Amino acid sequence: MINPNTTKPILTNPIVDHLLTRRSVSAAQLGEPGPTPEQLTQILTAAARVPDHKKLAPWRFILFRGEARAAFGEELARIFEAQQDDATPARIDFERNRFLRAPLVIAVISRVVENAAAPAWEQELSAGAACLNLLHAASALGFGAQWITEWCAFDAEVAKVLGLAANERVAGFVYIGTATVKPEERDRPQLGDIVTDFPG
Ligand SMILES: Cc1cc2nc3c(=O)[nH]c(=O)nc-3n(C[C@H](O)[C@H](O)[C@H](O)COP(=O)(O)O)c2cc1C
Repeated sequence: MINPNTTKPILTNPIVDHLLTRRSVSAAQLGEPGPTPEQLTQILTAAARVPDHKKLAPWRFILFRGEARAAFGEELARIFEAQQDDATPARIDFERNRFLRAPLVIAVISRVVENAAAPAWEQELSAGAACLNLLHAASALGFGAQWITEWCAFDAEVAKVLGLAANERVAGFVYIGTATVKPEERDRPQLGDIVTDFPG
């Protein structure tokens, strides 16, 4: 039961409890270890189990782990330096290390195909749902996770490095690792401000 006048959690069962308490953990606060291969399979399987009109699977996942994170960072540093005349060495170095902030980064790629029954909007929403399931599965297994985009999700040169097709774009980079600090709660919208009854 929802009381729209309060956001106080009503704990009912472990899954709802999880939904009511999950918090993102900043990428900068995600250390080792990351998920084991078995845990990663579970997390990805959960991400691929989202509502998907017409069963188009309008998403795919690119994993960045181990040395691949540094290799991608070299590409980010190269692209950033070429695009920004005033790029400082410190900032270029940050780009080089961007994907090293967590043991695992999963790029969720939205892949929209032509379908009369499932317009692009629905397919993009499904990719967002996949991102959220990654967060939920990772945190349910005890990991910290954050869904971020940042400039590299929107850059055409980065898209080339990722091998994205014309109908593909980055829905998010989901960073996963072990939280080095416990995140504090943040303000949430009051249900009374966002929920209405349709009159009648
Ligand atoms: C599509 C999308 C992109 C986001 N991109 C960023 C980002 O680039 N940088 C950032 O700090 N947070 C970004 N966020 C916000 C974080 O994922 C997250 O919402 C925030 O840290 C608080 O999360 P929580 O409400 O899950 O605790 C993004 C969120 C979404 C849904």
